[in-house]
Formats: sequence, C-alpha cells, structure tokens
Amino acid sequence: MLDRLDLGRLPRHVAIIMDGNGRWATARKLPRVEGHRAGIRAVRQTVETAARLGLPVVTLYAFSTENWKRPRHEVLTLMGLLKEYINRELDTFLRHDLRFLPIGRIDQLDPSVQRELQRAVDATAACRGPLVQIALNYSGRQELTEVLRTAARQVVAGELDPAVLDETWIEAHLATGGQPDPDLLIRTSGEQRISNFLLWQVAYSEIYFTPVLWPDFDQEEFLKALLAFQQRERRFGGLPETAGVFTPPEGQLGTA
Ligand code: FPP
Repeated sequence: MLDRLDLGRLPRHVAIIMDGNGRWATARKLPRVEGHRAGIRAVRQTVETAARLGLPVVTLYAFSTENWKRPRHEVLTLMGLLKEYINRELDTFLRHDLRFLPIGRIDQLDPSVQRELQRAVDATAACRGPLVQIALNYSGRQELTEVLRTAARQVVAGELDPAVLDETWIEAHLATGGQPDPDLLIRTSGEQRISNFLLWQVAYSEIYFTPVLWPDFDQEEFLKALLAFQQRERRFGGLPETAGVFTPPEGQLGTA
C-alpha cells in the first residue's frame, strides 16, 4: 500500500478522533478500560507511521471536556494510561525527533499528569520532526471562547484595535497557532460526528470515517485513510480549474 501513496502529496496535518475503544472491549467481554489499553497500541502504530512518513503534524483526540462524565474508574485509568504512554514512549519520540505538545485545559488535570506532560514537552522541545499533539480535556468551543476572551481583554485594555481582528489574528491565538489546519480528519468506529474537535481548524478538512474500531486501527488502516485522502479533489469552495484565481474586490461581492 505504501507503494501506491504519493509521498509528495501527503497531508500536512492529520487529526484523529480515536473512537470505539469501549465497543472493542465489550465485543470481547472485557472491561471497557481494556479497550483503552488496546487503544494505546494503535496510538503507538499511528505515531510511528507518521514519523516514518514525516507527516508534519498529527493531532490525537484523547480526552474531551465531556469525557469527565464517564465513571471515575474509567477517567482515572485513562489518565494513568496517558502517564504510562509518555513514560514508555519518550525514548521513541526522541529517537524519531518527534515534538510532543498537549492542547486543551491542561491546567485542570491532576498535577501528576501535568508534570508528566511537561516532562515530555521539555524533553522534545528541540525536536524538529513531526509534531505529535494530544488533545486532552479539550473542547473546540472552549478554545474559541478563550480566543474571544483574549480579544475582548486586549480591546478593553486598548491593546487591540477591533479593525485588525481578522481570521489571521484568531488563528494565531488558537492552541494550534502557527500550524497548518488539518488537511485530513479521521474518525474511527463508524460514528460520523465532529464532537467539538478543532471546530475552527477543520473548516476545509477532508473527513474520513471508517467503521474500524480504534484499537484495530493499525498502519494498514492509516495508509488506507491517506490513500483515500489522495483521491479527494479539494476545491476550497472554488472550481477545480479556477480555485484561488479570482478574489473579488472588497465591497463588490456578488455584483455582476
Ligand atoms: C473513545 O472510545 C476513546 C477515548 C475517549 C479515549 C481515547 C484514549 C486512548 C486511545 C488511550 C490514551 C491516549 C493516549 C494518547 C495515550 P470510547 O471509549 O468512546 O469507545 P465507545 O464509543 O466504543 O464506547
């Protein structure tokens, strides 16, 4: 499958909603947390594939702000798995020159989790390979609300002229500031929702839904998603032959 992939046309940013761990475990009569444990294997394979292909950015949705509603035992297990993952994989990150970055309300996580995350951020800060971003306690709406709050504060303090508040300003103040938007968004497990993930950033992402449950999402499934992406025709609202050619002058939108 690797032979069929056009390495010159890989997505610059792949975002993944890792879904289906619970169903994977239930189908095997195992506790749900075993699904999360198996999910770690898929995370490892995905990160290694991204490293091998040199994908510039991969963002994995590991825990949403809504996931606190899960049983305490499941939440604690997920946090424990995350710490274990960092502890075990830090060497792999360094070996592949991968930079690690958590996004979301990290300040609300248990101090032991925050410490482990910071350790990985610091250890990989000088890495120049792919950026591996883990969304934790993340909500797209909350991220946008934070940007609005920052803008409002700066306007009130006289530091920001509302006239310069444009898309570029907003993008720069998102958690993903300075990164390309996801070209490809993958969601596993057959669910077809965005679930509050990178709401601003996915405006023009190609979306790939697969019925495969996250623990079964291996390198082959990842390559399939990348191949499907390469077969899409991306128009960004234009037509194939004219995309990006005409920009209407301000004030003349839609006039003949
Ligand atoms: C969704 O499956 C998955 C999650 C809420 C957690 C994802 C976490 C991991 C894969 C492990 C930890 C991550 C890292 C980066 C180390 P679900 O539980 O909602 O499954 P279901 O829809 O079948 O119930």
